[in-house]
Order: sequence, then C-alpha cells, then structure tokens
Amino acid sequence: MNETPLWASESFWKKTAIWVTAGSFLILVVLTFDSLSQTQAGGKRVPAYSVINKKIDYVYQKDLHKSMPVIGETELLFGKEYTEAEAEQLVMLGKKTTQAKNCMNCHTLLGNGAYYAPDLTKAYLDKGWVNKEMREDMMIKFLMDPEKNARTFGSNRKMPNLDITEQEAKGVVAFLKWMSSIDTNGFPYNFKTINAED
Ligand code: HEC
Repeated sequence: MNETPLWASESFWKKTAIWVTAGSFLILVVLTFDSLSQTQAGGKRVPAYSVINKKIDYVYQKDLHKSMPVIGETELLFGKEYTEAEAEQLVMLGKKTTQAKNCMNCHTLLGNGAYYAPDLTKAYLDKGWVNKEMREDMMIKFLMDPEKNARTFGSNRKMPNLDITEQEAKGVVAFLKWMSSIDTNGFPYNFKTINAED
C-alpha cells in the first residue's frame, strides 16, 4: 500500500490554512477591541478629559522600572473647573489646532512626528515652564508668539510664529495637559517633571 499520510495530503493543508486564517482574524478582532478600550478617553490608560481639572505628576516606580502618571487633587486650569463636556470641547480645540498648524511637522506627539523639536507628550510638565504658578501664562504667551517669548528647551532651535489665537492657545494647553496624563508605559524616558526635585 502506498497511501499518502494525512499530514502530506492536500486537503489537510487546505483545512489548516482556513483554520489559521480564521483564528488569526478572530485574534485581530479581539485585539482591536482591546486597543480601543485602552486608548479611548476614559479608558484604562487614557483619563477622561476632565483630568485637566487635576494635578498631574509622574512617580518613578522601582518595580516597573518606569515613571507612571499619578493623578492628584484638584489643580484647576485657567482657574476654572470644567465639566466633562466643556473639557472635551477645549481639549478638542487644542487637538484640532495642533493638526491645523501641523505641529507634527517639527514635534512628536506620543512619539509620532518629526524630530526637529522636542516631544510634546509631557511638554505641559516640562521644567522649562519654571513653576506651576507661571506655567499657564508662559505657555499661552509662548504659543501665541514663540519668537518674542522664545524659551530654551535644550534644542538650540527656534519655534516660528504660527498665528495661534488666545482661545486656540488655551485649547492647546488643555490638550497638552490631558496628553501628559496618558499612561505611555514610561515614554518619554527619564523625563523630570516640573514638580520633581532635582
Ligand atoms: C517649524 C517647527 C515647529 C513647529 C511647526 C512647531 N514647533 Fe513647537 N517648537 C519648535 C522648536 C524648535 C522648539 C524648541 C525651542 C527651544 O528649544 O527653545 C519648540 C518648542 C515647543 C514647546 C516647548 C517644548 C517643551 O519641551 O516644553 C511647545 C509646548 C511647543 N513647541 C508647542 C508647539 C505646538 C502646540 C505647535 C503647533 C501648534 C508647534 N509647537 C509647532 C518648533 C516648532
């Protein structure tokens, strides 16, 4: 007898191909929903927009070997307590401004973009804004007129004027504050926040 063993038969490999494709498809669907639940505002890693009413800081966790975001007590932005809807509106204005003015042409946001200027993921918490009391005002002035209010963030480069209105600048600050609260698994590494002791 010279029968083909099962593993060498054509039908066996056809069936295997079908099952593997169907299985991978299912895994992809599950992973897509898992990613969505983790990346949505109000999800596991991305706080709801009203986080802009809170103090945001990072604490180095020895066991995880990375800095993790810690959402603290109330720390209002522009002296106002935003409802969830108002916060979303302001953060969205900021997000749309960063898209309209193409900040990614020079900066990275959450690691995506160009490497000409500093990453903006935690820019809100940057020590360059001196202290919490001066930060909002300095950020607004810098965003509206970076040429006149040039600061040094270590890049030795200058940010050009982008004709950002005051309301847009406020939106950008809210967007940057919200983004700084996202659990990015420690990215960017070795970042010292404005609250950190030297
Ligand atoms: C043409 C390039 C360019 C574009 C476009 C640009 N920037 Fe910048 N930006 C820079 C440079 C260069 C610096 C660093 C300045 C320095 O080191 O003194 C900077 C610095 C900053 C900082 C301070 C960084 C920090 O670490 O705290 C913020 C915030 C910022 N930019 C926001 C924005 C936003 C928001 C936009 C879009 C609306 C934008 N930038 C568009 C070049 C750019």
